[in-house]
Amino acid sequence: MLEVKNINVFYDQVQAIHDVSFEVKSDEIVSVIGTNGAGKSTLMQTIVSLVETKSGSIIFNGEDITNLPSHDIVKRGIIYVPEGRRIFYDLTVAENLEMGAYALKTDKKRLREDLEMVHEMFPQLNDRMKQLGGTLSGGEQQMLAIARGLMGHPKLLMLDEPSLGLAPVIVEEVFDIILKIKKETNTPIVLVEQNANMAMAISDNTYVLEVGYVSFSGKSSELMYNPEVKEAYLGS
Ligand SMILES: Nc1ncnc2c1ncn2[C@@H]1O[C@H](COP(=O)(O)OP(=O)(O)OP(=O)(O)O)[C@@H](O)[C@H]1O
Ligand SMILES: [Mg+2]
Repeated sequence: MLEVKNINVFYDQVQAIHDVSFEVKSDEIVSVIGTNGAGKSTLMQTIVSLVETKSGSIIFNGEDITNLPSHDIVKRGIIYVPEGRRIFYDLTVAENLEMGAYALKTDKKRLREDLEMVHEMFPQLNDRMKQLGGTLSGGEQQMLAIARGLMGHPKLLMLDEPSLGLAPVIVEEVFDIILKIKKETNTPIVLVEQNANMAMAISDNTYVLEVGYVSFSGKSSELMYNPEVKEAYLGS
C-alpha cells in the first residue's frame, strides 16, 4: 500500500537519505530501526511531506503522493505520530482527541463513536478526559498521542519512537497497544524504534537505517538472527 522508491533527501547541501526504498503492505507492521541520526524521522517526515523529496517517488495505494502538501497526505489517510509525543498541553485529553478528528470534519455521532473506541482501547485515558494534556504522565501522553492519531481514521499509522523515555513496564503497555490496534482495526503500522528487540518482536518486516542508507531489510523473524544486526542493534 506504501511504496517508497529510491528517494533522496537533503537538508540544505547535506544528504540525509540516500536512495532509500521502503515498502509497507496492507496487513503489516513494519519496523524501522537504527541509531541516533540514522534518518528514521527524516524518512517518516518525507513520507508526509514535512521534508521535501529531491528525487525518487512515494506511492500510496497506487497514487503518486511525492511532495503533495501534507494536509492532502493526511486526507489520504497517512497519519504520522511524531517523536516526543507532541500533544497540546493546554487542552484537555478530550479536546486533544477531538483535534485528531479535525481533518475528517466528523459529525457529532461519528465523533462519539470514535471516542468510545478510544475509551475501549485506552483504558488508561478513561478517567482523565477532563485533565489537561500537559499534566499527564509521560506514558499517558504517549497513549494520548497514539489515540489522537487513531481518531483520524488512519489507513496507515506511522509511530515515531513511541517508547522513547518511558519506564520498561510502560514500554510494554505501549507495545501491547500497538499490537491491539493492529489486531482490532487492521491498520498497517510503521514503527520507528531504537528499542530494536521489541520492535522486531512485534513486526513483520524490518528496515535498518545507517547514516541515511538502508543497510539491512527483511523479515523481522529472520533479521533478528542476522549476526551483524544482532551485534549492532540487539545487544548480543
Ligand atoms: N531540520 C533539520 N535540518 C538539518 N539537518 C537535520 C534536520 N533534521 C534532521 N537533520 C539531520 O539529519 C540526520 C538524520 O536525522 P533524523 O532526525 O532523521 O535521525 P533519526 O534516525 O530520527 O535519529 P533519532 O533516533 O535521534 O531520532 C541527522 O544527521 C540530523 O542532524
Ligand atoms: Mg528520530
